[in-house]
Amino acid sequence: MTHDTIRIFDTTLRDGEQSPGASMQKGEKLQIARQLEKMGVDIIEAGFPVASPDDFSAVAAIASEIRGASVCALSRCRPEDLEAAARALSGAASPRIHTFIATSALHMEKKLGLAPEAVLETIDRSVRHAVDLVGEVEFSAEDATRSERPFLARAVGVAIAAGARTINIPDTVGYALPSEFKELIAFLVSTVPGASGVVFSAHCHNDLGLAVANSLAAIEGGARQIECTINGIGERAGNAAMEEVVMALKVRRAFFGLETRIRTEEFIRASRLVQTITGMLVQPNKAIVGANAFAHESGIHQDGLLKDKRTYEIMLPEQVGLAEGALVLGKHSGRHAFRTRLETLGYRLSEEDLAQAFLKFKKLADQKKEIYDEDLETLLSEGPSEQGWERFRLERLVVSGGTLVPPTATVVLTVDGEERQMAGLGSGPVDAIYRTLSKMTGATARLLSYTVKGITGGSDALGEVTVRLEEEGRVAAGHGADTDILVASAHAYLEALNRLERKKERDRKAGFPQQVTL
Ligand code: KIV
Ligand code: ZN
Repeated sequence: MTHDTIRIFDTTLRDGEQSPGASMQKGEKLQIARQLEKMGVDIIEAGFPVASPDDFSAVAAIASEIRGASVCALSRCRPEDLEAAARALSGAASPRIHTFIATSALHMEKKLGLAPEAVLETIDRSVRHAVDLVGEVEFSAEDATRSERPFLARAVGVAIAAGARTINIPDTVGYALPSEFKELIAFLVSTVPGASGVVFSAHCHNDLGLAVANSLAAIEGGARQIECTINGIGERAGNAAMEEVVMALKVRRAFFGLETRIRTEEFIRASRLVQTITGMLVQPNKAIVGANAFAHESGIHQDGLLKDKRTYEIMLPEQVGLAEGALVLGKHSGRHAFRTRLETLGYRLSEEDLAQAFLKFKKLADQKKEIYDEDLETLLSEGPSEQGWERFRLERLVVSGGTLVPPTATVVLTVDGEERQMAGLGSGPVDAIYRTLSKMTGATARLLSYTVKGITGGSDALGEVTVRLEEEGRVAAGHGADTDILVASAHAYLEALNRLERKKERDRKAGFPQQVTL
């Protein structure tokens, strides 16, 4: 890594998971971590191990498997957090502890109830403790952009002297303006003793829509690590979107003169994976990965493009992985071709999972002539991804509707291993299914959102349904894919219900600190 390289620190699995309703299961986090490794991310922040047993075990699983990136765990400046982080990272090839404490007067007084001098002592003690545990330590001064500058500089100096090798400056509440933030980083880099021996990092939230602009400004000020997430997901309005920061550096390389290690052709795949897993779909006009990001509507633009693409395109769709879905498989494709294609797409399945996936593929190939990469990805991400947590399973579904009969759903469901059947009416077919499923499962969940999209073109395309449900403050997403969107709707609803059940179960578990929030 040279000083001309920007380190990409991905926090999709930690800050991204803090987006309401975006909580992910261990297997899903592993899938995302593999994709991040494949695309060349330098550091993967895998979670906050002390927060829950689930978080701990996801970090541990990622740490044991990922070898191409450093794996990082978050920790408050507390011994129990630091020790949990170190234990979770014990299998990592290149572990990092990221420890943080607030440095703004507001946070120190109101949230921590600590005097500034006590905060400095805590930083010194905690960073030294962390260095003893893993060696590679990052320190964050939470709410840095609203901290008093002289105090922030002292805090950073203490962390450097204690052994932190990366200093992260978070704009925790998305308050900074680009010119201010650039100046703040430049000030710290040029004045804090020992600053030349560490990497400065920026972690920007998007409350004013400035997260990417602030990240780029931080780079101009001297930051050499950017903390970001796929699709910009994260607490509240989210974090800086990795794809936007990286493409800005790439497209405007002549301006920045800096590179990242990111294989940008993986952006679309990463974006879709995160959307599918979290249920948080990006808006069509989202930069880089939105459905319209490379769509040209105006006749003048289309004419220009036909003459020379550069008239209206500053980057090529292929550079971000947007190519026409290659026709790869069909009804007659065998298991070998199926496995080879999955491996090319980056999936490593056990024999058992491969056999199950192949069955699903064959079923799909009976309904749909041409199977594209996107179909395969949807097929693999579909269904409950953790074993043993499927309280509710759809067995059969019959729906009638149209202009002559009221929408009616007849559902056969397995609930805790026992088959039940019920029929119910609704104002439309999906409503009839959801009302019937609610009655059968006893769920009181509220439907927050329902979206359906076609995975590939054509009327035989797989339809993917994503729902988000809320029950007693818990939010869960579910998705289902099928050539029949009513079947996909039922699967999506049940997956979200199963996840809510899992969250309830987790919250009932005793003996481990519950849901530590930042
Ligand atoms: O936004 C923030 O301040 C954070 C810290 C934990 C780095 O997420
Ligand atoms: Zn954050």
